[in-house]
Amino acid sequence: MKSARVIALIAGFGFLFLALAVQGIFPYVMKEAGPKTVTRTVRTEVGELTAIGSAARPYTALEAQGRAIYIREGCWYCHSMYLRPVAGEDRRWGPVAEFGEYTHDLPHLFGTRRIGPDLTRVGGKYGDDWHAAHYFDPRMVVPDSVMPRFTWLFTKDAASGKQVLNEEGKALVAFIQNIGMSRGKWRDSFPYQILATGASSIQTEVSLSHGKAVYLRRCVGCHGEKGDGKGSAVSLVLFRVAQPRDFTTGAFKFRTTPSGSVPLDSDLFRTISVGIRGSAMPPWFNLPEEDRRDVIQYIKTFSRDFEEFPPGPPIEIPRPPKPTPDLISRGKKVFEEMQCKECHGAEGRGDGPSSNTLKDDFGNRIPPANFTTGIFKSGPRPEDIFRTFMTGLNGTPMPSFKDAFTSPDDGWAITFYVLSLSADRGK
Ligand code: HEC
Ligand code: HEC
Ligand code: HEC
Repeated sequence: MKSARVIALIAGFGFLFLALAVQGIFPYVMKEAGPKTVTRTVRTEVGELTAIGSAARPYTALEAQGRAIYIREGCWYCHSMYLRPVAGEDRRWGPVAEFGEYTHDLPHLFGTRRIGPDLTRVGGKYGDDWHAAHYFDPRMVVPDSVMPRFTWLFTKDAASGKQVLNEEGKALVAFIQNIGMSRGKWRDSFPYQILATGASSIQTEVSLSHGKAVYLRRCVGCHGEKGDGKGSAVSLVLFRVAQPRDFTTGAFKFRTTPSGSVPLDSDLFRTISVGIRGSAMPPWFNLPEEDRRDVIQYIKTFSRDFEEFPPGPPIEIPRPPKPTPDLISRGKKVFEEMQCKECHGAEGRGDGPSSNTLKDDFGNRIPPANFTTGIFKSGPRPEDIFRTFMTGLNGTPMPSFKDAFTSPDDGWAITFYVLSLSADRGK
């Protein structure tokens, strides 16, 4: 009996010391070993994705302030920051954690409990607007969430009367959006977020009542009960990047169908699965396929266009060629000839002469995409860029250039030129 107690005592102190050593002492000792490199996915000068070894950069002052708020608010009680190479964690969240990612993280915030999801790869998963709505009241966007509200990170915007993030809230979001970013553009080759364009409609047994249930659980906070884009989140929190789509108009941006046409089911399936990067619209690749298919049929009931004007024939997207420096310089020329720079600017920064005057069909200001950010709403694959300027984005000033091209080669030249603008220049 006595020896059992001694063993338990030794084991107890042993594990306590081990925990202190691994989490408290080792990180400080190993910091001296200098920065470690991580696998970073970057765009090359010809717009392709490639992986390089690179060191994590230190936090900016704003991100460091956000990190302190993350610690102060106890986010780490519920969120871990460590992806293990087991149980398909890399399929749900992305690549497993690497040593060098934690170079500037002292104290470490690995965490042990996962009351909420791991946050190692959350940077860039959602837009700032989503985070704002989620921190103000998680249940507006995720109805069965147990995450607390953080209303003290907000202030009232005088002009709109809606809630906006205050200085602390902005710092927290800056920190969250930077988590995992030392891995670069890994998301652009994450299989679940780069769905290919299926040309045919998806045939499946449909349950509208199930689709409605999915909608009321996942989408209603933003898109509203009537599908008019006036959900509770939008009425309380100011969305800065884009307003949730009003489904009653039948205008959809991301399609393989001609300008003005409604999208195919497969177009909607792609958009819903991968999300709309940079905006509040989250990716839903974690939802069962059946949920995604049924919710599409439900969304279509909001507009009669789907019945009255069947979708036009989808464009054909040939296989992209292997990009070369010659293709890029040709792309630059075509970009200038086709007046893309009128809106997108000579260097693709979204600052062309007419950029300040553009409005969408609903009267909201809409800046032309800044290609140097590398954040593409329509998707990061060459096929996504190609599709976007071939079919245009309905409801926005972004026109269709389908008839302007005499050869698909010019299309690919422009595509890779656009992608090359977000090349990693080792800043
Ligand atoms: C009581 C536990 C708890 C606390 C404290 C908490 N969260 Fe959460 N969090 C959750 C749960 C549960 C979810 C999953 C449901 C949801 O998305 O709301 C979540 C989801 C998230 C997500 C979305 C992750 C993803 O991949 O979908 C982010 C980002 C997040 N939390 C950030 C924070 C931040 C920042 C704080 C501190 C200001 C915080 N959380 C505090 C429980 C918590
Ligand atoms: C947190 C807010 C939010 C939630 C929740 C949300 N959306 Fe969205 N959604 C948006 C925003 C914002 C846009 C417009 C983005 C843009 O145009 O840049 C959008 C756009 C869309 C579009 C238009 C795509 C196109 O081609 O124009 C579809 C379809 C869509 N959402 C479906 C859904 C479905 C289905 C759900 C639920 C499973 C959902 N959304 C949940 C914010 C949200
Ligand atoms: C009249 C102004 C205008 C012209 C001309 C124009 N665009 Fe656009 N473009 C826009 C606007 C506005 C958006 C943003 C739409 C949005 O955010 O929903 C956009 C978005 C895009 C996108 C999508 C980026 C993303 O986030 O996925 C691509 C790609 C694009 N434009 C390429 C081109 C190319 C290539 C040309 C020339 C052949 C061109 N645009 C000409 C206004 C224009």
